Amino acid sequence: MLRSLDYAGSPSEPASLGMTGLREQFPILSATSRGKPLVYLDSAATTQKPQVVIDAERDFYTGWNANIHRGVYEYSERATVAYDGTRATAARFLGGVDADEIVFVRGTTEAINLVAQSFFRPRIATAGATVLVTEMEHHANIVPWQLAGATLVPIPVTDAGELDMEAATRLLAARPAMLAVMHVSNALGTINPIAELCAMARTHGVPVLIDGAQAVGHFAVDLPALGADFYCFSGHKLFGPTGTGVLWGRREHLAMMPPYQGGGDMIDLVRFEGSSFARPPERFEAGTPNIAGVIGLNAAMQWVMAQDTRAWERHDRELLELGRHLLGEIPGLRFIARPADAVGVLTFAMDGAHPHDIASILDGEGICIRAGHHCAQPLHVRFGVPSSARASFGPYTTEAEVRALATGLQKVRELFG
Ligand code: ALA
Repeated sequence: MLRSLDYAGSPSEPASLGMTGLREQFPILSATSRGKPLVYLDSAATTQKPQVVIDAERDFYTGWNANIHRGVYEYSERATVAYDGTRATAARFLGGVDADEIVFVRGTTEAINLVAQSFFRPRIATAGATVLVTEMEHHANIVPWQLAGATLVPIPVTDAGELDMEAATRLLAARPAMLAVMHVSNALGTINPIAELCAMARTHGVPVLIDGAQAVGHFAVDLPALGADFYCFSGHKLFGPTGTGVLWGRREHLAMMPPYQGGGDMIDLVRFEGSSFARPPERFEAGTPNIAGVIGLNAAMQWVMAQDTRAWERHDRELLELGRHLLGEIPGLRFIARPADAVGVLTFAMDGAHPHDIASILDGEGICIRAGHHCAQPLHVRFGVPSSARASFGPYTTEAEVRALATGLQKVRELFG
């Protein structure tokens, strides 16, 4: 639950509203936009990168660039160790799973497509074609299942922007072939009760895929405690490079899944009559991968593990509370929902002002927010709006930036009467 803070007339804020020393590690945060100090409030779209991540990629390219798994020379061996060694980092990052259950992918989207095609599709005949999703899912957790031949059944979302758990209980009892659910909503910030959902799914023998894209940048994820079958995230939402991501899958599932793509590095024997394949995880990593990106992702995960993520959570919640308070005072501004358990995301509409106009006016002030459907059209249909404006926080977001957002929105209000 959000802790209640009293902002009225209080000139000093709690100390945790400032994250000393953290912003300085992100070079871009001292930049300007439209001639004003950059106020970056779009971390749900992509997070900014600390210097250690930028350095890791640059050092690889300038110092020891070589392909992996293909050379016996020093640089190739070094690149191979760094790339494959990132599996152990990811396994630790996710709370202690096995390194050979870690598959590198382009991002969350590719991870879900892989599971939809290689795990779900071959099971349709025996397990059925229904995939239980939620009304708040990102398109990346909807369309891949449809492409794989699924019939989607959504768990409804309440007016507060939370999952209707009574409906979830009922729908899981009908034993769908899969449950595919986001850990944290990119559009509303809702933190879903994943452990509870996984426990229910398990009693009905329903495998669960968790889209962790919006979770990993906000709090530590303990996979063994969650009890899922698949978990995935994107590097770029975790202060790492774009084009990188992780799919974790239970060993027994990965072992029986056919390859998703064919090519070099995923094979055992290749003949014109037919080929056999490497064991997981290599089986799912055809072609030269994003070596530099994975090395950058390693740096990002190591960096996050060295941070006080509990302090991040407190900071995030305090800023969310502040943002809800300040924006709630702007006439005609309406939050799409206010989930009780949420990360730092403010999603709203304003009477008479189109979300794109709101975002454009804020852009003139150097403030970056997202406007549109946030790749969650069904959720916007649920709330009866075509689009919304969204400000989303990272651990580097400051109280001053949230106040700048509120001031900018007051200007929007004045312009649109
Ligand atoms: N899924 C990302 C967002 O929510 C791109 O903005």
